[in-house]
Amino acid sequence: MPSQTSISEIHPDNYRFLQEHVYSNVGIVLEEDKHYLFESRLAPIVRDLGLGSINDLCALIRATSGTEAGRQVVEAMTTNETYFFRDPAHYEAIRTVLLPRLKEDRRDTKKLRFWSAAASTGQEAYSLAMLLLEAALYDWNVQILGTDFSSKVVERARLGKYQQIEVNRGLPAALIVKHLCRSGVD
Ligand SMILES: C[S@@+](CC[C@H](N)C(=O)[O-])C[C@H]1O[C@@H](n2cnc3c(N)ncnc32)[C@H](O)[C@@H]1O
Repeated sequence: MPSQTSISEIHPDNYRFLQEHVYSNVGIVLEEDKHYLFESRLAPIVRDLGLGSINDLCALIRATSGTEAGRQVVEAMTTNETYFFRDPAHYEAIRTVLLPRLKEDRRDTKKLRFWSAAASTGQEAYSLAMLLLEAALYDWNVQILGTDFSSKVVERARLGKYQQIEVNRGLPAALIVKHLCRSGVD
């Protein structure tokens, strides 16, 4: 009888290949115990591409380096968890320590640049924007850049539209009323 392989089976060589592929693209270390994560996140890609298994997906990426399939794998293995004012201590440090210092250092140019370097769906950049608006930098030239490996999340960030449940995660009522407007019903 021919042996059967399941869609989510990963040969040890391919497991190492996937670990290295993700690490070399985004610097994320996925340890030996992350089989379930690879299986659950890569199985949909295998199905979409009409392949038989994750092993086939690895063969495709190996044969065609730098392709869409390789990018999809990395994107699937990133975790996009975010919410407004995540890690409140950091925002508090920006408000009470960094910003007063920057206001002093940059009082001649009145120019500030911030970079949310793994912005996910944008809550970090918008939280910072709200914090800066609250700091009354009226005649300052302020820019916030948000970037992310995943173009999917950047697209959502650019829209700046959030479900009520996302708004409720981390945003105090006073900031909701002041900076957000309701569009449609969710
Ligand atoms: C857990 S989210 C954090 C979002 C936000 N910084 C926050 O703290 O709320 C991590 C994000 O980092 C992105 N990411 C991971 N490695 C990256 C890299 N090397 N370059 C750019 N983005 C990366 C992922 O796509 C994901 O959206």
